[in-house]
Amino acid sequence: IPVEPFDLVLFGATGDLARRKILPALFHRFQIGQFSDKCRIIGSSRSALTAEAFRAQTADAIRDFGQDVETTPAEIAGFTDLLDYVAVDARSDSGWDVIHGKLRDDAVRAFYLSVGPSLFTDIARRLSETGIATPDSRIVLEKPFGHDLASAQSLNTALRAHFEERQIYRIDHYLGKETVQNLMALRFANSLFEPLWNSSHIDHVQITVAESIGVEGRGDYYDKSGAMRDMVQNHLMQLLCLTAMEPPAQFTPNAVRDEKVKVIEALRPVPQSSIARGQYRGRNAGKSSDSYRDHAGNPASRTESYIALKVEVANWRWAGIPFYLRTGKCLRDRVSEIAVYFRDPPHNIFAGSGTVHGNVLVIRLQPDEGITLKTTIKDPGPGGMRLTGANLDMTFADELPESGRPQDAYERLIMDVIRGNQTLFMRGDEVEAAWNWADPIIAGWEDAGEAPQPYDSGSTGPDDSLLLIHRDGRRWRSIG
Ligand code: BG6
Repeated sequence: IPVEPFDLVLFGATGDLARRKILPALFHRFQIGQFSDKCRIIGSSRSALTAEAFRAQTADAIRDFGQDVETTPAEIAGFTDLLDYVAVDARSDSGWDVIHGKLRDDAVRAFYLSVGPSLFTDIARRLSETGIATPDSRIVLEKPFGHDLASAQSLNTALRAHFEERQIYRIDHYLGKETVQNLMALRFANSLFEPLWNSSHIDHVQITVAESIGVEGRGDYYDKSGAMRDMVQNHLMQLLCLTAMEPPAQFTPNAVRDEKVKVIEALRPVPQSSIARGQYRGRNAGKSSDSYRDHAGNPASRTESYIALKVEVANWRWAGIPFYLRTGKCLRDRVSEIAVYFRDPPHNIFAGSGTVHGNVLVIRLQPDEGITLKTTIKDPGPGGMRLTGANLDMTFADELPESGRPQDAYERLIMDVIRGNQTLFMRGDEVEAAWNWADPIIAGWEDAGEAPQPYDSGSTGPDDSLLLIHRDGRRWRSIG
């Protein structure tokens, strides 16, 4: 469904995220006809660039980072015709009137701040004081949203001085991923799973976001964040919330976000004994020169590039059920998934015929988005009653080929901004609640001065992470 005409001002338009994700995402939405030539995208950054040069850069970005779909030069030209460019420095007064002059009264106005969080407040203030932002305008903010609770609170206060919460779109791109939304459909549009979705039937849950790449090129930012701030406080937290939340009464922004906040507020403090932190040391037991410390340019770094935590949601539905979370860089493979382990049947009538394979529902985010349910069946064939494990498997691309290419998270999220739908964006109180949970955990290891345990690049993470789950008599699902 086509969206209304819009004027989108993209701050940080020459930056990495804009080139890799935002501009290609906009192009693909244009390509499939979701918006027309009545829309404008105004790139902005400090660089003195002509509109022509920005168009050429964007065409390159689409060719380099666009999705793997057939694209004609005419389509790219049609899109870049919608682009304009204005150089502004967020900390100076000049250039803002030029942006103002380019905006139309009858188009949706959106301001996308793909810039460091230190510039959020300056840009928000100038947009508001110059009258560029109207009461219906939207402001979009990239992560990280703060570094801790105090910084997130002051960012929220500063933003709310100029924009109302209904205008603020805090991005967590995990919420735009196809399977993440499918998790809500699976849970709340089927009657099969929800009656079992509680501590009586579920043994534990594993949430994994494993990456095979390191922090090359982003060491400066990452070394001040680590896996906890970069991934757990936001992306894994969102996956946990959607897995654990109560059914909202409606699929509306505040109903969904209210339920997510309740999950975060129900999280128990995590003792240090329920955490394993690691740092990759390169291949061959650290003999190569591509360790985290090399990439971060900090030979004494104590920042974790891997973390595993055992978390508990202390409420009626989940009391006593562990959620094991893990995420890390330079691991053996790229895998993101949520695995829900159901309890074994109370009694095995097939003793002597093989093992009952516990049911596991795996919701795969990437690669091969889809859902798998591990079951136990009779081994087909003449051998009598023998049990074996078999998967009910659905890879969305195979099952629903006519639905076409799944949208990239950014495609969906940017169009939601234009439509004015905040369901897949984080509310201010939600971000603060997540920091409120994360801060004491981080302070715990900082106070103890604990260094993360080294692990080999290309492995499955540090040994401590295995211990964390083995001591409960459970095992991680394999990565790759
Ligand atoms: C970003 C993190 O938010 O998410 C990166 O800052 C991480 O460190 C990335 O690599 C992972 O996103 P995806 O979509 O590739 O799983």
